[in-house]
Amino acid sequence: MLARNRFLLVLAVGLLLAVLSFSLQYLQLMPSSPVGEEVSRGKSRKRINPVVHTEPPELDPITEAYRYCNLPNQTEHTWEGHSLADYKLLSVHVMIRHGDRYPLYSIPQTKRPAIDCTLSPNRKPSHPLLASFISHMAQGGRGHWDASLGSLPRVPNHNFCEMGELTQTGIVQHLKNGVILHQAYIRRHKLLPPDWSPRQVWFESTGKSRTLQSGLALLYGFLPDFNWSKLTIKQQWSTLFCGSSCDCPARSRYLDLEQKRQYRLRTSDLQLDRTYVAMAAALGVATRTLRAANPVDSLLCHLCHGLPFPCANTNPNAVIQGACLTASHFAVIRRQQHDDERERQEAGLYRRYAVLAAHPYLNRTALRMEAVARGNRRRKGLEEPVFALASAHDVTVAPLLSALGLEGAGFPRFAARLVLELWKSPEVKEGKGKKGGGVENAFVRVLYNGQDLTFDTDFCRNHDRHAHPLCPLGNFLNFVRKDMFSIVNATSYQEACRQTVL
Ligand SMILES: *[C@@H]1O[C@H](CO)[C@@H](O)[C@H](O)[C@H]1NC(C)=O
Ligand SMILES: *[C@@H]1O[C@H](CO)[C@@H](O)[C@H](O)[C@H]1NC(C)=O
Ligand SMILES: *[C@@H]1O[C@H](CO)[C@@H](O)[C@H](O)[C@H]1NC(C)=O
Ligand SMILES: *[C@@H]1O[C@H](CO)[C@@H](O)[C@H](O)[C@H]1NC(C)=O
Repeated sequence: MLARNRFLLVLAVGLLLAVLSFSLQYLQLMPSSPVGEEVSRGKSRKRINPVVHTEPPELDPITEAYRYCNLPNQTEHTWEGHSLADYKLLSVHVMIRHGDRYPLYSIPQTKRPAIDCTLSPNRKPSHPLLASFISHMAQGGRGHWDASLGSLPRVPNHNFCEMGELTQTGIVQHLKNGVILHQAYIRRHKLLPPDWSPRQVWFESTGKSRTLQSGLALLYGFLPDFNWSKLTIKQQWSTLFCGSSCDCPARSRYLDLEQKRQYRLRTSDLQLDRTYVAMAAALGVATRTLRAANPVDSLLCHLCHGLPFPCANTNPNAVIQGACLTASHFAVIRRQQHDDERERQEAGLYRRYAVLAAHPYLNRTALRMEAVARGNRRRKGLEEPVFALASAHDVTVAPLLSALGLEGAGFPRFAARLVLELWKSPEVKEGKGKKGGGVENAFVRVLYNGQDLTFDTDFCRNHDRHAHPLCPLGNFLNFVRKDMFSIVNATSYQEACRQTVL
């Protein structure tokens, strides 16, 4: 405990020093006021949108890094399921980033952080559902598993985590997410009946165990003791969830240009350069080797798990002789990452990449929403899912946020969740003959980590909220099918993808 406190103090001092070099216009969302939940509880109350501050607040690197960790011991105030009285919730589309994981790279000449990736309800952080989750996962053989997913472990299971393995923290984060969605959508809005049909729930994951396990944990929190034999788990081969529309040469070109920009910025940062040289010297490795090991990923893991930063293996007196990585090293790398994020937004190349990267997923979601809003799914015997879960990576969630115009939400933290809700207004009766077939009575909400960002999106930023306090589904449909391509001077995905990008 004492050692831990001392570590935190050293960390705080180190980061404070590094703050001097911070001068960023980094847009962040304010945590929603604790009052918010009280104010808007209850179906008949009018929904009050939390204020999203777009002023750049002082960035405190500790707070910022812990926000990325997303430690599951904090109570969240969330806005999922809040709408106007008598509006009916039709469907919910969720994209998540996997939870806390072990680093993907190890730092050369150091011990890997000692983290246990087996699950134990007695170990912190824990969750009331953890024990029953573990035994439910043991029965997963009754589920329908697409492609290679059936051969993946359904829970993390190594005493010493493997690279990239989900941790117990990661499982708990998503059990928590699931419980939040359960309260909002099952308890409050009865989105699914107790005897839901297999078509009503859609679950897809990439072929990595951390995304599969994250999605299962969320699903278990959402539908405790769900019936395995109703569940089909689909595999997405691409981290972009682009299905059969992945071929897009212009997208690759924009990514290429973006990476060149990123490389130029990184190599021209003298402070970063000096920091890598110092870190490499401390560990006794070549600077190039250290850079290639992407040490910040591992350092974040140390931070999120309350472990001191690593020291060189070979030197028993490492601490005394300065052969350790320090909080100020870490802070310089994070500072550069934030500079990068700011320049990335200004350059706009990533945004163009993101529009093309996110379109197939958004297009599929738009299609489903429209079908549900029109209510013609049952007629055709092609029922669309009312709860769709996509379990993904930072490289999936980040372009989605950017494409929606939500770049200010920052880099996706562990267990980030992006939610699209589809609502129907009460006043108009169901009617087949009606123009628009139900789309004009349908509305979307966009939530990120529980915050309502609907009116920060590109497609509803200019919506007149006095005329109607919710965002029309039509805005979203027009955006996905045409308007989102205006940034690349095109009117369709096909056209945009075939453009020559210089
Ligand atoms: C959550 O846990 C971290 C690390 O154990 C601790 O520093 C923090 O104060 C805790 N937060 C709350 C709200 O309990
Ligand atoms: C689970 O689902 C299957 C297939 O729909 C059904 O036959 C079975 O009765 C269900 N089991 C329970 C306990 O509801
Ligand atoms: C988008 O959805 C439409 C159906 O609305 C489909 O015809 C089209 O192929 C989809 N395009 C892409 C790029 O996924
Ligand atoms: C789109 O067109 C505008 C004006 O014609 C031009 O300035 C801009 O560079 C074009 N953008 C792209 C991505 O081609």
